[in-house]
Amino acid sequence: EAPWTDVLAADELPTDDVCGLAVDGRDIAIYTVADAVYATDNICTHGHARLCDGFLDGHEIECPLHQGKFDVRDGRPLCDPVTVPLRRYPVRVEGGRVYLQLD
Ligand code: FES
Repeated sequence: EAPWTDVLAADELPTDDVCGLAVDGRDIAIYTVADAVYATDNICTHGHARLCDGFLDGHEIECPLHQGKFDVRDGRPLCDPVTVPLRRYPVRVEGGRVYLQLD
């Protein structure tokens, strides 16, 4: 099993929102939706925009540049112009810390 990387204190998570995080040279977006936490690459698969600057509506993140949307649960593209899925990362919240499985 791939290792889990400690990335954040659970009380630093956004509330029903998205934040960007640099982890091991990667740009990761972390989302909370109700009590669930999700993580994907932060850079849009369509162009060079950071999804943490976009708008989270339920499980949908809207890219700030051309308004493409992805489902944060699995990274799948939901509308034009995005067609390539976002890479997603498994998340575990335990003992007040947030862990990601990066590989
Ligand atoms: Fe994200 Fe174009 S850069 S939709």
